[in-house]
Amino acid sequence: MGNCCSVQIGLENFIIRGLDPIVGHDNYVCKLKQTLPTLSVALQELRALRNDMQREVDPAEQRLLKPFERVQLWLSKAETMITEAEKLNADGPQQMNNLCLGGCASKNCLSSYKFGKKVAKMLKKINDHRSNGAFAKVAESQPAASVVVRPEERPISQESMIEKVWSCIEDKDVGVIGLYGLGGVGKTTLLTQINNKFSATPNDCDVIIWALVSKHSDVGKIQDRIGGNIGFSDAFWKSKSVDEKAVDIYGVLCNKRFVVLLDDLWERVDLNQVGIPKPSQENGFKLIFTTRSLEVYGEMEARKKIKVECLGPEKAWELFQDKVGDETLNSHPDIRKLAEEVAERCGGLPLALITISRGMACKTTPGEWKYAIEKLKRSSLPK
Ligand SMILES: Nc1ncnc2c1ncn2[C@@H]1O[C@H](COP(=O)(O)OP(=O)(O)OP(=O)(O)O)[C@@H](O)[C@H]1O
Ligand SMILES: [Mg+2]
Repeated sequence: MGNCCSVQIGLENFIIRGLDPIVGHDNYVCKLKQTLPTLSVALQELRALRNDMQREVDPAEQRLLKPFERVQLWLSKAETMITEAEKLNADGPQQMNNLCLGGCASKNCLSSYKFGKKVAKMLKKINDHRSNGAFAKVAESQPAASVVVRPEERPISQESMIEKVWSCIEDKDVGVIGLYGLGGVGKTTLLTQINNKFSATPNDCDVIIWALVSKHSDVGKIQDRIGGNIGFSDAFWKSKSVDEKAVDIYGVLCNKRFVVLLDDLWERVDLNQVGIPKPSQENGFKLIFTTRSLEVYGEMEARKKIKVECLGPEKAWELFQDKVGDETLNSHPDIRKLAEEVAERCGGLPLALITISRGMACKTTPGEWKYAIEKLKRSSLPK
């Protein structure tokens, strides 16, 4: 029986040794002693590379950035390879036990030959895959939403307001957000910051629509401004009736996750009439509007109402002196003190601070500044 086996081993060894030069392969059985430990190291390195890449992909996905397809493909191939290589690694000890004659022959030659060949192939596959896994970036940095960035001047002290509005946007329970405040307090400025933040911060909205409403806007005008953002801007469309436009707008918006920013409402806007779908948790739609009127503020049924406040004394002075400039402030020993009083009399209202500081930027005599203070004493600016 024993003799019979050794004859068989010899025969298989002979056949396989004979096969290698014909098919151009190395002797997989003889090399198993080196290739198996090398495979184990390569497997460890592939796992480490896969983990590192996944660590980059996970936070990108959390920020709603889409990983590149080539990176996803690399990761899924790596996963399959790791599983296959782990299996070979696990079978390794058994296969090594089969080797005899210093590792150059096997008790089960055909099986060892196939196994050795698999190990060598897997090693090559892993090495090739590792060298293809050097990606400079794993995900796109483009935000999801389509938004037209509006010109902006960095406002002073609006960061916390921006964050407050943004957290309402992220709150699924909040559909309509109202920003209320005095004329010139910074409502449009704040809304502009929000609009532009959509372009810089990943989010799950498809389109951001800006529409200036203003005092004498009727439904048709509001529809034209919204339509212009979603591809309805030709004269034919503009000539349609309010009802027809509402159907068109509704049809587009219903199929998108969108945010409508309505700036400067003077009266209630009937969303149905315009064609704006009612915000709900399911559609994720948001409407943010600004108004000076407390009445409108209530009538729009805002789920979240945010009052835009005047600047505090320090921030008001910061804005004022920035606009007047040091040259004027230092042009006479009395001017800085007088300027501080002028700034104070602006009541923290950004529009007043900006308009007056610009007007005073070329005034270099104390008399001119005293005159300004007298005029401000008689103004109706917030105290
Ligand atoms: N926080 C701020 N820092 C710097 N400048 C500001 C700030 N807020 C507003 N401004 C400036 O003040 C002026 C008025 O601001 P804005 O138009 O935003 O006011 P508003 O509240 O929209 O007024 P209205 O009710 O008339 O529409 C603008 O020139 C704007 O750049
Ligand atoms: Mg405004």
